Amino acid sequence: MTQLIENAQEQTYGSVTGLRCKECGASYPAVALYVCEACFGPLEVHYDYSNLNSRQLKSEIESGPKSLWRYASLLPAQPFVRSLEGVGFTPLQRAYNLGERLGLHELYIKNDAVNPSHSFKDRPVAVAVAKAIELGFDTIACASTGNLAGAVAAAGARAGLKTYVFVPANIEPGKITAAAVYGAQIVPINGTYDEVNRLASQIADEYGWAFTNINMRPYYSEGSKTLAYETAEQLGWRLPDHVVIPIASGSLYTKIAKGFEELIKLRLVQDETLPVISGAQPSGCGPVAAAFAGGYTEIKPVKQPTTIAHSLAIGSPADGFYSLKVAQRTGGTIGQVNDEEIIDAIKLLAQTEGIFTEPAGGVTLATLRNLAQAGKIGRDEVTVLYITGNGLKTQNVIEGLFPISAPVAPRLSAFEHWLEAR
Ligand SMILES: Cc1ncc(COP(=O)(O)O)c(C=O)c1O
Ligand SMILES: [Zn+2]
Repeated sequence: MTQLIENAQEQTYGSVTGLRCKECGASYPAVALYVCEACFGPLEVHYDYSNLNSRQLKSEIESGPKSLWRYASLLPAQPFVRSLEGVGFTPLQRAYNLGERLGLHELYIKNDAVNPSHSFKDRPVAVAVAKAIELGFDTIACASTGNLAGAVAAAGARAGLKTYVFVPANIEPGKITAAAVYGAQIVPINGTYDEVNRLASQIADEYGWAFTNINMRPYYSEGSKTLAYETAEQLGWRLPDHVVIPIASGSLYTKIAKGFEELIKLRLVQDETLPVISGAQPSGCGPVAAAFAGGYTEIKPVKQPTTIAHSLAIGSPADGFYSLKVAQRTGGTIGQVNDEEIIDAIKLLAQTEGIFTEPAGGVTLATLRNLAQAGKIGRDEVTVLYITGNGLKTQNVIEGLFPISAPVAPRLSAFEHWLEAR
């Protein structure tokens, strides 16, 4: 780590003042660091936004590019010209049909499955890669549960960086292909995500590579704030009442909360209170949900995840503790759902709203459904469901569920026969 500080030029951009420890408040320069040397707490980017004028900022945002870089003044890295095009500014779709089914009158879906590599991970990666370029790295890498692999591989190709992705060998084959196609070096590891992550931390120190979610994590995680900014902007600069977000490491969940908080502080919205922020985990790997249900402040790691939602299978979530705090502070719930509920929800979303999500989206929708059924979301509350990954990469999970008839002869009578048989 120390070696990286010495090698990397310190660069600060925009309102960034440096990195700050979330636990003891110690300050560090904005380099490739992620843990506090004094107390081992996680480091976060610190900004001084006092020079930003809210009216000017809003008009700058509104006239900016239709991507996450419209919020560049609130991000820790300069937009990088060879970023993937079209990351962010994804649709906020009013979910009329699904809302009717769930008894929610103002339900919206933030469809982040339509990003360039088909998950929200393109957002944190865009920021991490921009920062890695600023710091002079020539190799980008990650430890991934599947989607980050594709996002890093695609961004690395576009940025002209050497790219290595480390994944548990048991993730969906579609996710491995969707990373390999970009020319990245894929390193499948016989182990859980936590084991992959531990190995990757050693490699980051040893080889001096930029790992998006390890030594670039403070910058990487800031990219997810843009999901909060966009939601508010697309609602006409107001905050929703209730949001439901999937949790693996808890980075997305806590950073969406941070994004909403910043909008209030910067007076970009008139609201003064945060939305209720609920989280969603699979029961086969739900350490944060289990701590929430038990009322614990400590997260008990899950050693062997058993869920079809591989993308959420992190047994020791780095931001688990902070996720619990967000739920408590906003009156949210962190729910957990089983594989059957996940599959049901994947079908429900596809068949009501025409959106094909991967298991993480099934986890999130199934959790929302449970909240609605328990009366924890009011009928007229503006509610946003975050769909963060695309089902096309995980077709294996619905294999055989939709049997297709044998081919029909190209004759009207054959078709009529087929129709009668339905
Ligand atoms: C589709 C999808 N949604 C949500 C998440 C949760 O991410 P985080 O680690 O930020 O909690 C992941 C993580 O890989 C993911 O792939
Ligand atoms: Zn500290």
